[in-house]
Amino acid sequence: MNKIDRPSPQNKPAKLVDPFGRAIDYIRVSVTDRCDFRCVYCMAEEMTFLPKSELLSLEELEVVCRNFMRLGTRKIRLTGGEPLVRRNIMHLIRNLGAEVKSGNLDELTITTNGSQLEKKAEELAEAGVRRLNVSLDTLDADKFQLITRWGALDKVLAGMKAARKAGLQIKLNTVALKGVNEDELGDMVAFAGDEGFDMTIIEVMPMGDIGNENRVDQYLPVSVVRTRLEKRFTLTPSDYATAGPARYVEVGETGRRLGFITPMTHNFCESCNRVRITCTGQLYMCLGQDDHADLSRALRGGGEAGLQEAIYEAIGRKPKGHDFVISRREARNVGRMMNVTGG
Ligand code: 5AD
Ligand code: SF4
Repeated sequence: MNKIDRPSPQNKPAKLVDPFGRAIDYIRVSVTDRCDFRCVYCMAEEMTFLPKSELLSLEELEVVCRNFMRLGTRKIRLTGGEPLVRRNIMHLIRNLGAEVKSGNLDELTITTNGSQLEKKAEELAEAGVRRLNVSLDTLDADKFQLITRWGALDKVLAGMKAARKAGLQIKLNTVALKGVNEDELGDMVAFAGDEGFDMTIIEVMPMGDIGNENRVDQYLPVSVVRTRLEKRFTLTPSDYATAGPARYVEVGETGRRLGFITPMTHNFCESCNRVRITCTGQLYMCLGQDDHADLSRALRGGGEAGLQEAIYEAIGRKPKGHDFVISRREARNVGRMMNVTGG
């Protein structure tokens, strides 16, 4: 195992730095594997979700977040499944939001499908959330239904409106799907511009078994998308960098940022500052690797000291990078599904 600094009792705990010198200050926490949509690239229609007994309680999730904060975490993103369908999730959001207000966290963000936003936008803003990522792959109601199986576009659009009214900034996450929304991506860039949203276009990733859908058929390289968009928009590379894998351009015609995430064709691992925690308390050091640490067991068996030790130990074996492969003939992938670790 790689050596990393351990805290000594008299000192403040050492911040998390992985064996490649990357400071880990961003956690993405999946608070539920459940979702009220069944997007074709994410889930099979018939899903078996985890029994509730295996989930970390909201209190345990908060303890995990607070311990990461003690070890240097400055940004927390809540994901799912759909985070806003977890019962009482606003309680956790308010408690973590309070840490943003007091300056202990730089940011609390949420990745959502937008289905609950009409109801919850106001409360989220009051809790201290400033930005949301909303998944939206099409502006065509019929296509939206085909992609999400269970979702309704008008609800999501109304949710985004409510979020904007509440003062939340929105970034659209759009998965590029061959033969499905590829003809619409230009119009979506224009829509994002009109609405004042940034946008990220994501390549479909080979995660988990999604039933009959064939990922090789869905795969549309983001490089192709970009070349097509350049016929309609002036895209100027931007040096804007979030703590994320997207490469950004500025869209001259709209003045908004547009990001491209290309996990398959590009390596974004060098600047990785994040880890992922599932709703059962599994810490994944890399989205593209199966190695993980059981923080639930560490916490339940060893309390917060045990939890911190397990976190240090796990960060000490964070890998250098992922190895997704998608070729014409095979879609080799990690076994777990997107709704387990979140996007
Ligand atoms: N490939 C790419 N993106 C995915 N998402 C979910 N599953 C996949 C996949 N297999 C996206 C969602 C959401 C974000 C969190 O991840 O659409 O926008
Ligand atoms: Fe739900 Fe997001 Fe997966 Fe769609 S992609 S099924 S909205 S978790």
